[in-house]
Amino acid sequence: MVMLRLTAEQYCKLPVMVKEETCIGKTYIITGGNSGLGLETARHLVAASAECVVLAVRNLEAGEVAKNDIEKTTGRKEVVQIRHVDMSTYASVQSFVTKITAELDRIDGFICNAGVMLDTWSQSEGMETSIFVNVINTVFLGALMMPKLQESATKFNIKPTLVFIVSVLGYIAKSEMDKSRNGVIFDGLNDQKRANMDQRYALTKLVEECAVRQLAALCPVERTGVVINMVAPGLCSTGLGHDARTFNKIMHEALRAMMARTAEEGSRTILHGLVAGEDSHGKLLSGCKIKEFWVPTWLTNQEGQKLQRGIWDELVFRLESVQPGCISQLK
Ligand SMILES: NC(=O)c1ccc[n+]([C@@H]2O[C@H](COP(=O)([O-])OP(=O)(O)OC[C@H]3O[C@@H](n4cnc5c(N)ncnc54)[C@H](OP(=O)(O)O)[C@@H]3O)[C@@H](O)[C@H]2O)c1
Repeated sequence: MVMLRLTAEQYCKLPVMVKEETCIGKTYIITGGNSGLGLETARHLVAASAECVVLAVRNLEAGEVAKNDIEKTTGRKEVVQIRHVDMSTYASVQSFVTKITAELDRIDGFICNAGVMLDTWSQSEGMETSIFVNVINTVFLGALMMPKLQESATKFNIKPTLVFIVSVLGYIAKSEMDKSRNGVIFDGLNDQKRANMDQRYALTKLVEECAVRQLAALCPVERTGVVINMVAPGLCSTGLGHDARTFNKIMHEALRAMMARTAEEGSRTILHGLVAGEDSHGKLLSGCKIKEFWVPTWLTNQEGQKLQRGIWDELVFRLESVQPGCISQLK
């Protein structure tokens, strides 16, 4: 059902929901801001008079190319800044957070956008890479940024937004998820023999959504002053999956040729995430609207809630052992 809804939505024209009044004087950070949706989101924010837009990238040269491109197309210089973050190691995320929180006075929006679609097995920090990058380190980064976002909320009387980029494709990964829901979930996800790598990307997005729902529940906006939401940008033509095996690549290209948004159109959904406000806290956004009714009941019912809590508890255990206090301080 949700895939039918998504297909229909692909053809809708989306509004650009930021303008000068929304962005003037504001600071935004976008991980993976050098390409695809991140780059186009950054370009919109710069064009809409943001004061500072930080592209957090793993490849500084690619970051510089993106910066020059944005400056050329918007005519605005000294707005874009490039910082290094490699989402495949804990240490890089920790170092990025330490530096950026010291450097910046305020943060109005933080977009956890960097992600990978891998269909061959590899590992980072002892975990299958796409689970590590798209879920574990993304949640780690979001959690580590919370104190600075809270500080910005209090200091400037604003409601900063922490946006995670998910995908409704996650909802097709139920059977892959079921393989790992009994026992230690992340051990199951890290079992190469059990993994169907053709569905791995979708699975990472499902697990990410479960974790972010728990994070948002732990950090109510009334207490923290920070809005946490999840944007599903729809199918977009970007560099995602460029490393996939030939067959998967051909399948994706065919699907994209039929119904994909451009990266610029897709970025409009992320801009919506930034301005959606308190009502969007802990919710799924798609097509520039709150789409909680798209979330399947097997995720919202008792079993789904149990799965969500299980994923969260294991993540907390893992992340607290990397940096004690990183999650417990959020309470
Ligand atoms: N395109 C879609 O149809 C679609 C649909 C739903 C959700 N999404 C999500 O949207 C987000 C953006 O993807 P996209 O479509 O714009 O694809 P993209 O063009 O491939 O952008 C992904 C970005 O993530 C960065 N990245 C990957 N691994 C990283 C790492 N270890 N450390 C730091 N940065 C890393 C990439 O850097 P490099 O340039 O250095 O590789 C790139 O800048 C992802 O989270 C994706 O899952 C996309």
